[in-house]
Amino acid sequence: MSIDRLVLAFAGFMILLSLLLGLYVSPYWYWFTAFVGANLLQSAFTGFCPLALILRKLGVTTRTQAVFGVGNPQAQWMFIGEAPGADEDRQGEPFVGRAGQLLTSMLKALGFRREDVYIANVLKCRPPGNRDPRAEEAQECRRYLDRQIELVAPTIIVAVGRIAAQTLLGTDVALGRLRGKVHPLGARRWPLVVTYHPAYLLRSPGEKRKAWQDLLFARRVLRLAEAGEQVLP
Ligand code: URA
Repeated sequence: MSIDRLVLAFAGFMILLSLLLGLYVSPYWYWFTAFVGANLLQSAFTGFCPLALILRKLGVTTRTQAVFGVGNPQAQWMFIGEAPGADEDRQGEPFVGRAGQLLTSMLKALGFRREDVYIANVLKCRPPGNRDPRAEEAQECRRYLDRQIELVAPTIIVAVGRIAAQTLLGTDVALGRLRGKVHPLGARRWPLVVTYHPAYLLRSPGEKRKAWQDLLFARRVLRLAEAGEQVLP
């Protein structure tokens, strides 16, 4: 069990314990502690949080759970998208909706399963109504993403889509001008290449050829990097 879940389990246990004291205080306290405590324990053991689901249904929050990342923690390839959508929010895994299925097919064309690469997003939570991530949200999630990159230590990072590319590189240069180059990311200068978002490719299938060229470019860069060549400008 992860540390986060141990903390949740402990909090749930303590709240349920205070329920015993609450029995003598007020029936509202009793129901409150019983509900919150049971919810925390449930989240700790199953990873599913019923309280988040209720809050989402009430419109208080728009996300069910954080969507952290998935795949091989020692992957050579890391794909970074923008933010979870509705399907990702429900399943707790990045790129599982229609766009995700296209990304999975693109990976397959490269000879990979999803488990072979690492997939994450700039934002860890679904923005309300799937709006674009705000700068402060991206900044808030950035330390998690930076740590994920450090831990996976990929040979190549692929920024999936304009928003991911511009946010990661801190630029407003158009996606078309960012493609076909290797960009250094962060202080460690991770090699990063840019491609179209699969959601865009679903709307503009004629651009799929360019996305495929981007992946082939990424593969060439990775092979050069593996051979010890300098891939960054
Ligand atoms: N789009 C993204 O950028 N990320 C996802 O996880 C799903 C859709």
